[in-house]
Amino acid sequence: MDIKVSSGSIIKGNVVCSGAKNAVIPLLCASLLSKGKVMLRNVPRISDVFDICNILRYLDCKVIFKGHTMLIDNTNLKYKPLLIEECKKIRGSYYFIGVFLALFSKCEILLPGGCKIGSRPIDVHLQAFEDLGFKYIIEDDILTIFKTKVNEEASLVLTKKSVGASINTIFAGLRLNHYEIKNGLYEPEGLDVIHFLQKLGYRLTLKDEVIQYEKSKLDFKLIKHTVIPDRMEAMTYAVLGLLKGEVTVKRVNTKDLELPLRILKDAGYQISYTESEIYAKKSYGKEIEIKTDIYPGFPTDLQSIFGVLAINTIGKSRIEETVFEKRMQIYYDLKDSGVDCKITGNKAEITGTNKIHSKNYSACDLRHGAALLLLALVGDEEAIISNFDYVLRGYDDIVNRVKALGGKITIL
Ligand code: EPU
Repeated sequence: MDIKVSSGSIIKGNVVCSGAKNAVIPLLCASLLSKGKVMLRNVPRISDVFDICNILRYLDCKVIFKGHTMLIDNTNLKYKPLLIEECKKIRGSYYFIGVFLALFSKCEILLPGGCKIGSRPIDVHLQAFEDLGFKYIIEDDILTIFKTKVNEEASLVLTKKSVGASINTIFAGLRLNHYEIKNGLYEPEGLDVIHFLQKLGYRLTLKDEVIQYEKSKLDFKLIKHTVIPDRMEAMTYAVLGLLKGEVTVKRVNTKDLELPLRILKDAGYQISYTESEIYAKKSYGKEIEIKTDIYPGFPTDLQSIFGVLAINTIGKSRIEETVFEKRMQIYYDLKDSGVDCKITGNKAEITGTNKIHSKNYSACDLRHGAALLLLALVGDEEAIISNFDYVLRGYDDIVNRVKALGGKITIL
């Protein structure tokens, strides 16, 4: 899908934050771990969610998705090899591995795909599965994993801080009597998944980054859960306000955005917030300095969004990506649009300006696409963004929401 962004938009209004993509994907996979039905509220209508739903339906689950509420009934769930296109399309399909190991002690799956922002191996997941007593083979992009010995207990240390591997290991071990996982990484989205599992009846405790699990007996009942707000979406709209007008983002957890908000405040931007709301108004800040890091450090998912904001600074901003190797494309786009931007490896130095010569752009991942939309909206000419589908993977109804704020966008 391509979109046209015309110049001269005046952005003003409110946005209600959607449910978090990086929480809802593992939550949907974890719905298979319940006995009976699950009702999820605040589910974003994004293409990654539709792909996961297709996988759930392929597994004979009943999925009803109305508005932002989803009902999943796994009564008829049965084991099937996960050799379907949807698994290859999205990254989060890797959560089915852990869930399948908990339920069936085996899994056959097409290796997960997702945004091409680096090599994105799953070695940490695989090592942890081995530590839990599973063996795996990878052949022709198919991962086959099965149980070799009966482990009743496990104590393991994840070999790297990884959001996905931490949750996947929690899932995979749920068949054991007891486990302990050290060196996990639990961002707000991971904590939401742990709370959900606890609601299902799994006896999990998290203390000082160590997860412990004791075998649990689950009840047959309807479990209701509300997905936490998407901090990346909230910040994207707030930055749009800072760049182009005035935006209030409602139903946010600002405590999950402590560092990005502090950086903006310290730089002097017109931004204010309460526990659940952010108000952002067009303003110029002092130069910003950002280095991405694991939570609670600066999120890699906001790096390109802040890269575009750097054009609204007085002075030179410095941005460095440390989590994924290939997330610097936006700085080449800034350069092509006339911004003084120096790129060295995974570092960029951007000089503030108010002259953007819009070009035709092409999105190459979800956050890059969202950053391009911000860039196109501040540009002084018409811009086309191709491959905008990437953005629909993670931003609920973004075209209509930006149009409702005053953005001039046409789907081509
Ligand atoms: N890594 C490994 N081996 C592994 C797993 C990770 O080397 O087995 C590396 C990665 O290549 C990366 C680093 O460890 O360099 C961190 O990766 P992590 O596992 O924490 O991230 P992820 O689970 O692949 C999730 C989100 C990403 C988000 C990151 C960081 C999902 C489906 N994806 O990825 O979301 O950037 O955590 O918060 O939850 C996005 O929303 O645009 C996005 C890419």
